[in-house]
Amino acid sequence: MSSNPITGRFRIGVIGAGSVGAAHVRAAADATGYRIAAICDTLPSAARDLAPSGVPVFSAHRDMFAAAELDAVIVAAPHSLHTPMVTDAAAAGLHVLVEKPMATTVEDCTRMIDACDRAGTLLAVAHVVHFDPLVQEARRLVASGDHGRPVLVTHRRSAHYEPGSRPSWFFDRELAGGGIVLNVGTHGLDRIQWLTGSPVRQVSGVVRGRDGVEVETDALALVELADGTGASLALTSRGAPYFDETEVVMDRATLRVSATEGLFLLRGGSSVRLLDADPGRQEQALRAQLDGFVAAARGEAGARYVDAAYGRSVVAAALAVYRSAAEGARVALPLEGVPA
Ligand SMILES: NC(=O)c1ccc[n+]([C@@H]2O[C@H](COP(=O)([O-])OP(=O)(O)OC[C@H]3O[C@@H](n4cnc5c(N)ncnc54)[C@H](O)[C@@H]3O)[C@@H](O)[C@H]2O)c1
Repeated sequence: MSSNPITGRFRIGVIGAGSVGAAHVRAAADATGYRIAAICDTLPSAARDLAPSGVPVFSAHRDMFAAAELDAVIVAAPHSLHTPMVTDAAAAGLHVLVEKPMATTVEDCTRMIDACDRAGTLLAVAHVVHFDPLVQEARRLVASGDHGRPVLVTHRRSAHYEPGSRPSWFFDRELAGGGIVLNVGTHGLDRIQWLTGSPVRQVSGVVRGRDGVEVETDALALVELADGTGASLALTSRGAPYFDETEVVMDRATLRVSATEGLFLLRGGSSVRLLDADPGRQEQALRAQLDGFVAAARGEAGARYVDAAYGRSVVAAALAVYRSAAEGARVALPLEGVPA
């Protein structure tokens, strides 16, 4: 590792120069304590177009690890590649921020955790929702207990999920590991767990697709949390207009977090908007996520990041939706060691 732990600028490589790799590079642009020091993509033109001036590009991540003198890597590649990339990064002594979903199987999540534990490096998962001010404020209000305890949570989100609407690997079962549930539903399952502070205990799922498409494009799930709170997840492939909202019904009030409209509190028959949905907050959230990751990798006390055991719990909940849909039965999740 090349950076001086006290004074040096922490050097981060990026694997995957697609839409999210680019968002991380933008978020890091004016950071003072760290910098993007290499970019890797199997498409050389994508890596070149994204690389800030003077930053080397690679088409194979192992070559980047060998040549670029990195401290850490961001993995923003297709889902089933996360595990080999993270275990290779651990073997190279690098800290890792891996995009959601952490992996496509629970066993792979465990392999990644074990590899980083053995290497003594940090493995954080990019559940960026934890850094979104709207969701942070909603969580604070739920946790305060001022409005009673959570009773029910609903999450509904649309995403254009038909071939041609996004890169083709999202529809390749082997590379993506699943469709809208694993890709988009993981944000919802994350919110449900994080807002309530309670992990998913049981899931009943329904998934639907299209002829000729390998992965599901629409899904519904009924979820029960460990503390008894009920939750629902509705994911649709053609929302018009786009919607992304979560409602937390508590004993004495209801919170509604809408990605497009803001944060609302309904209490005593009237609704107040607590926060606007500032469009710039996504970039701020990505920046806060990187700041927390680097601080944690440097061992700073109180640094905020989403740990890998939590990332694995979200993958387990998403995979339970698939199993329930396939078996036509409720699926229970093992809860030992699952944080929320
Ligand atoms: N946090 C969020 O809000 C959010 C939003 C969208 C996507 N994501 C996640 O980010 C990750 C990337 O998604 P995306 O939308 O940027 O996809 P994308 O298709 O835009 O980008 C992926 C990039 O990875 C490259 N790639 C493929 N195989 C590679 C390999 N072996 N080595 C190096 N590069 C390789 C591709 O060429 C492509 O440029 C996924 O895990 C996705 O679920 C997160």
